[in-house]
Amino acid sequence: MVKTEPLQSPPPAGAPERYGPVAMLFHWSMFVLVAVVGGLGLMHDSWPKETQAFWINVHALIGLLLWLLLFARFGWRLAHSPPVLPAEIGAFSRRLSTPVHVTLYALMFVIPILGIVTFIWHGRAFDFGIFQVDFGVKSNKAVFHPTEDIHGYLAYALFTLAGVHALAALWHHFIQHDGVLKRMWPARRA
Ligand code: HEM
Ligand code: HEM
Repeated sequence: MVKTEPLQSPPPAGAPERYGPVAMLFHWSMFVLVAVVGGLGLMHDSWPKETQAFWINVHALIGLLLWLLLFARFGWRLAHSPPVLPAEIGAFSRRLSTPVHVTLYALMFVIPILGIVTFIWHGRAFDFGIFQVDFGVKSNKAVFHPTEDIHGYLAYALFTLAGVHALAALWHHFIQHDGVLKRMWPARRA
């Protein structure tokens, strides 16, 4: 028999209904960074040969920024629990949301690691404009071919899961009208 009552007890009176401004800032700035880094990654074969190294470096530096932000976000998140889901959210959404969020965090953690390995074992140096970081590693196809492939596949997995996650948020908002999207949507105070 399907259990229909909520899995959590109703939130205590006065408990926050929405994510705070810091959580929203992390969420939406990282959404923009994933879109920019992912877009640059997808285009890396389309650049002319002369500018390809430049764009791969830009991709890598913004990817590193995303990675550092992820640590800050994760540290902050451990100290700040998310708001309790509204009581009307069904069991299916409740069960799925945490594994989906954890997988999104995990992908944003692992993808840059494979990117860094690919970058360094391709013999590239990080160019920060005013200084360079060169690990002096010789280009080694046996390393960077598989890591580049896995980096790409995991990036596609991230795009797909983030897309499904965004569609779910829109479904909650426009079909279910249950306020889930508003929890993460910046709004003026009443
Ligand atoms: C979440 C962050 C990132 C995303 C979503 C992402 C996405 C992508 C995508 C979609 C590709 C193209 C893969 C293909 O053609 O199959 C790519 C390639 C690549 N990425 Fe990333 N990437 C990220 C972070 C990084 C970081 C942090 C670095 C390095 C520090 C990096 C280095 C590379 C390199 C070296 C390539 C291959 C380009 C080449 O040498 O031809 N990526 N990335
Ligand atoms: C790169 C794209 C995205 C990534 C990686 C991402 C990742 C995440 C993560 C990890 C959380 C959990 C936050 C936490 O509790 O720690 C979250 C929550 C949320 N995201 Fe996204 N997100 C993305 C795009 C979007 C988009 C485009 C939308 C809206 C259309 C959206 C709507 C939401 C909402 C409403 C929540 C709160 C869910 C709840 O109340 O439980 N996200 N997102």
